[in-house]
Order: sequence, then C-alpha cells, then structure tokens
Amino acid sequence: MKVISIYNQAGGAGKTTVTRDLGYALTQLGFRVLLVDLDSQASLTRWLGQLAPGADGSKAPGTRLDRTVFPVLTDPDADLPEPLGAFGMDLIPANTKLSVGDSVLYDDQNRMGQLRAAIRRVHGYDFVLIDAPPGRTAMALAGVAASDHLLIPVNVAKALDNIDNVAEVLTTARRFSPTLSVLALVPHSFMRNTRHHKDVLRGMQEDLAALAPTTTPISHKDTLYDDATLYQQPIAVYAPRNSAPEEYRRLAGEVLALLGLAPVAEAAR
Ligand SMILES: Nc1ncnc2c1ncn2[C@@H]1O[C@H](COP(=O)(O)OP(=O)(O)O)[C@@H](O)[C@H]1O
Ligand SMILES: [Mg+2]
Repeated sequence: MKVISIYNQAGGAGKTTVTRDLGYALTQLGFRVLLVDLDSQASLTRWLGQLAPGADGSKAPGTRLDRTVFPVLTDPDADLPEPLGAFGMDLIPANTKLSVGDSVLYDDQNRMGQLRAAIRRVHGYDFVLIDAPPGRTAMALAGVAASDHLLIPVNVAKALDNIDNVAEVLTTARRFSPTLSVLALVPHSFMRNTRHHKDVLRGMQEDLAALAPTTTPISHKDTLYDDATLYQQPIAVYAPRNSAPEEYRRLAGEVLALLGLAPVAEAAR
C-alpha cells in the first residue's frame, strides 16, 4: 500500500482535482484506492457528492465529524472510520467541523503520528491518496507526515515561487516519515502556445529537477473541470470522450512507473 499526499502550500493549486482524477484513473487501472479528505473546506467530499443531503432530506454521512479522521487525532487507539463509497473509490470525508483538528494537533504534536499509524492499520487498498489542506497548518503537516510520497500539483498559469518552501515541510514531516520523498511535480492547466506556461514548465523540468521529476503536463480545459465539479463527478465520468481522462490515465501510468509498479491488468493479478 502506497500512501501519497497531494500537497502544495498554495490554495487553488490543483490538489483536489489531482486527488479526484488520479484516484479515479488508478481505480480504472484496477487498483483499490482510498481517498482521505483532510481539508476542512471539504472540496473533495463535496465534489464527490458526499455532503449533499439525501433525497429524503436526511443529512449526508460526510457531515458527521465522527466519519472524518477526527477520532484518530484525539484517540491513539481509534481506527479510521468506515469510509464512504464514491465512483469505485472509498473516501474518508471532511467537513467544516474538521477545522478543530488543527487546535487538537497544536496542543500535542505527537498526535500527528496517530493519523500515520491509523492509516497504516487499514488494509485492502493499493493506494491511499490524501487531499491535504493548503498552508503549513498542523493538519497539512499531519497529512504529509502520514505519507510515503508527495505529489506536488503545479498550475503552470501561476508562478513557481513558493515551491521551495516545501523543503521546510519535508524536514518537519520526516520526523514521522523518515523516508518521505517527493515523487513528482504534476503540472496542469497547460496551454502549449502560451509562453509563460512553457517557461514555468521548463523551470520545473530544469531548476526543480533536484527536488523531483516533472510529469507530462495535463492540458488546460476551459470550464470542463469546473463543470465536472459542479456535476459532482470525476472528469472521466463527466466527460469520458474528452482527452482529459486519457491525460489522467497517462499520469497514473507515470506515477506507477515512478513507484516501480505495473498496472494490475498488465501484472495479471
Ligand atoms: N487541467 C485543468 N484545466 C483547467 N482548470 C483546471 C485544471 N485542473 C484544475 N483546474 C481548476 O483549478 C481550480 C483549482 O483547483 P483545486 O483542485 O480546487 O485546487 P486546490 O485543491 O489546490 O485548492 C479548480 O477550479 C479546478 O477546476
Ligand atoms: Mg482543495
């Protein structure tokens, strides 16, 4: 089982999109995937339709704090709650109440290790993908510290300025996860004819090569990703014939190659 945090300090960097669509692509390749929403903004949970009330007006299970990672932060013996199901993936949801997680962790930093330990006790998954909150909050650190690897999404329409800061987060997180590595930088929203985008991509491939390899860029799709979000579906479910799902399957293949793994179908598991 590989535990991977999708992390970038910046908000709007593509963390939730990459978590959703890479997770779905890995599922399509035959892997069993658990998604963990650690962001109290709960975008991933909402985007997968797990915060909307039921047809009968009943509250969605995603709204309950005891269905999030919260119990694990307060009780060293607690296991992760039973996940929700979404599009063939499992999901530990988040909701706004999870913002108390930060104060719980600030009070006792050792609790960061509890999330890591609880994730390591689950079985039946090939991948755990953690949608980390932005910033350098305690919850963000706990997510990174629970991981074996990081994927850093980069919106190539923006500047690369704050990527260096990830080094600090890595240093702190390695107290819990000594072998933590940055698996790859994941450029997205790329337009091949835009000079600034090409410059940012080249900056990643050359200047940041020592930090991690850069995957093949995911193309910019005007409104498509926002529409998929609005309809609460992964991009491959919302627009199966678009090239975007194929790009995420390619990303999944590149991630598997970086991990030295083969797709399940090919491995004839
Ligand atoms: N390839 C893409 N093309 C166009 N827009 C994209 C693409 N990938 C992500 N986005 C958009 O970028 C915005 C920020 O992404 P999001 O995943 O919410 O970032 P974060 O989780 O880091 O805050 C969203 O509106 C999303 O729809
Ligand atoms: Mg997000």
